[in-house]
Amino acid sequence: MEPKSVVVTGATGFVGRELVHRLWQAGIGVVGLIRSGEQDAPFVPVLLNLLEDKGPMPERPAGDLIGLIHLAGHAPVSTKEPSALHETGTARTVELAEHWKIPKLVYVSVQGATMTAPTAFQQSKWVAEEMVAHSGMKFVILRPHLILGVGSPTPEKLARLGRLPDANVRPVHVADVVEAIIRSLWLDTVDGKRYEIAGPQLVPLSSLTEQASWSFMRRRRMVNRRELDAWGLSIPRQNQADGAWVADFGILPRPILRARNP
Ligand SMILES: NC(=O)c1ccc[n+]([C@@H]2O[C@H](COP(=O)([O-])OP(=O)(O)OC[C@H]3O[C@@H](n4cnc5c(N)ncnc54)[C@H](OP(=O)(O)O)[C@@H]3O)[C@@H](O)[C@H]2O)c1
Repeated sequence: MEPKSVVVTGATGFVGRELVHRLWQAGIGVVGLIRSGEQDAPFVPVLLNLLEDKGPMPERPAGDLIGLIHLAGHAPVSTKEPSALHETGTARTVELAEHWKIPKLVYVSVQGATMTAPTAFQQSKWVAEEMVAHSGMKFVILRPHLILGVGSPTPEKLARLGRLPDANVRPVHVADVVEAIIRSLWLDTVDGKRYEIAGPQLVPLSSLTEQASWSFMRRRRMVNRRELDAWGLSIPRQNQADGAWVADFGILPRPILRARNP
């Protein structure tokens, strides 16, 4: 029997590194689609720049490829022009999955991705979701809120923006997101569904930057909500999260902020 492997785009990113590590721990091989050479990567690297490489598809690696996890995309607060990677990059990814005859796609979108979403970030994720949903393959779509955990660059990026508005968010731990991704590969009951992935705590946005380097904070100007929207950090006004993912994936999500000792 051939060893089981999973194909991962965005394997070198914040979520990708955690995912690759967890798959490796579980004894599942990873084929990482990357745009530049990685030395000592804990996966089989296949070079593919999802935006620039227009030629023939790379050769299919050997092995039983049980699924493709599509992570390549922009993290919130990293770009104001997300469409190319989310739309063209996803079209290319779906094409590759068809070419390699991979039976299942797991796509990591973002909370609030809809056609009428207020931001280009969420709209472009919705377009990508539709490509995945109409690919003819089995699929699962996960829509995380802000993802945090060791190695997340987001608190520092948020601190650089300035003084944050009075708003609450439901961040989710990267380990829980990765667990849901991995379970998506095996759980037939989640096929064809889209899940909002939110953490258990409603926390002030400003509390996330407390550990960030304070040198950026001296000349702090006020950031408004519209700016946060433009950075892909659209904060749901109600901030109630659908908890279906907790039940369907059997995960008890961990809190992001620990209680402090008095
Ligand atoms: N982080 C969050 O809070 C958050 C929240 C909700 C949803 N998400 C979604 O989760 C996914 C992963 O986020 P992340 O935080 O891990 O992002 P990240 O750290 O910025 O990683 C992005 C990944 O995409 C790859 N990539 C970028 N352009 C590419 C291209 N042209 N061709 C091939 N690969 C390319 C990057 O490769 P290089 O290493 O070569 O740059 C990197 O591996 C994204 O789709 C994001 O939208 C993230």
